[in-house]
Amino acid sequence: MARAIVIRSNPAYERGSDQPVNTAAIEEVDEAFLGDDPVLVEVSHSSINYKDAMALTGLPGIVRKTPLIGGIDLVGTVKESADPNWKPGDQVILNGIGMSESRNGAFSELARVPGDRLVALPESMTAARAAAIGTAGYTAALCVLRLGHAGLETTQDRPVLVTGATGGVGSVATLLLAAAGHHVAALTGRPGELGGYLHELGAEQIIDRAELLDAKGALQKQRWSGVIDTVGGEVLVNALAQTVYSGTVAACGLAGSPKLPGTVMPFILRNVTLAGVDSVEAPVEARREAWALLAELPGERIDAISSTVPLSGAFQAAKDLMGHRLHGRVVVDVRA
Ligand SMILES: NC(=O)c1ccc[n+]([C@@H]2O[C@H](COP(=O)([O-])OP(=O)(O)OC[C@H]3O[C@@H](n4cnc5c(N)ncnc54)[C@H](OP(=O)(O)O)[C@@H]3O)[C@@H](O)[C@H]2O)c1
Repeated sequence: MARAIVIRSNPAYERGSDQPVNTAAIEEVDEAFLGDDPVLVEVSHSSINYKDAMALTGLPGIVRKTPLIGGIDLVGTVKESADPNWKPGDQVILNGIGMSESRNGAFSELARVPGDRLVALPESMTAARAAAIGTAGYTAALCVLRLGHAGLETTQDRPVLVTGATGGVGSVATLLLAAAGHHVAALTGRPGELGGYLHELGAEQIIDRAELLDAKGALQKQRWSGVIDTVGGEVLVNALAQTVYSGTVAACGLAGSPKLPGTVMPFILRNVTLAGVDSVEAPVEARREAWALLAELPGERIDAISSTVPLSGAFQAAKDLMGHRLHGRVVVDVRA
């Protein structure tokens, strides 16, 4: 048996009602519930991402079948493996691949997972820190690598912009870019409250979100050497309009809006590239490259952006994330 957070359809939900579509609660599940994937992992840590917060608060759009164990990030130790690439005792990381969407996730003391997209926990990293990085940080690393492969070079006058900077993706992106020696501008809706936090992560400039929401024009003053956008909508459109000639904008999120209400002008007159970043289906080579980059971050930097809750604390953390009361990353200690 394993203790797990199981998401079930809410029998009280009706179309148009204010009831959540799903409910989530801690249950004891038997091993048959875990499925038949070849690698059995003793999970030690998971985390709360935007998707986890949506799933745990019963919102539609993430969990596509029920009942299902939640949790899109897994860190733990292999207990049994029918996959020859993994053996008992191996410490592993798994992010995405549909966990908590179409297959069981990691808010569970035990998980059965496929072996082909597992990544070995880097030697320099603890399990808790890998969970603190989680999907948010691994996605940030994919974005940073995307800009790096496109030849990102920053100056004080033309920094790289990170939007939704106080969030999980934004915080780790800011850390990684600053650690690589880049000049970073952090866009936030909470400049007064969290500007100090962003400076500590290495951001040189703090930009008020309102500035980008209010900007007008298909092409504006060229301000950003590159952009990592977690917000979408008007913010993304104006970031594109302010990106330098031949700059790249890595878009990975929709915390503000899924819309792209802009023009093609930055693409056809400034040679700007809009690069989409997906972490869920990323191939194992990209995962390894991202985790190798993340392994270079000093552990204390990761500790500074994270807090830890027990499995039962995941529900409140999810509400807090949806209510914009969090910043940085929340680790779930699945054993606690
Ligand atoms: N493509 C992928 O594979 C992938 C992977 C992970 C996450 N994501 C997506 O990336 C986004 C960020 O994820 P996360 O884990 O960093 O979430 P998060 O921790 O909740 O952070 C999101 C941040 O966005 C900003 N924000 C919130 N509401 C906003 C609004 N209405 N308008 C503009 N900005 C707003 C806030 O930052 P400020 O207060 O600093 O403005 C918030 O901290 C989400 O949309 C998530 O689904 C995508």
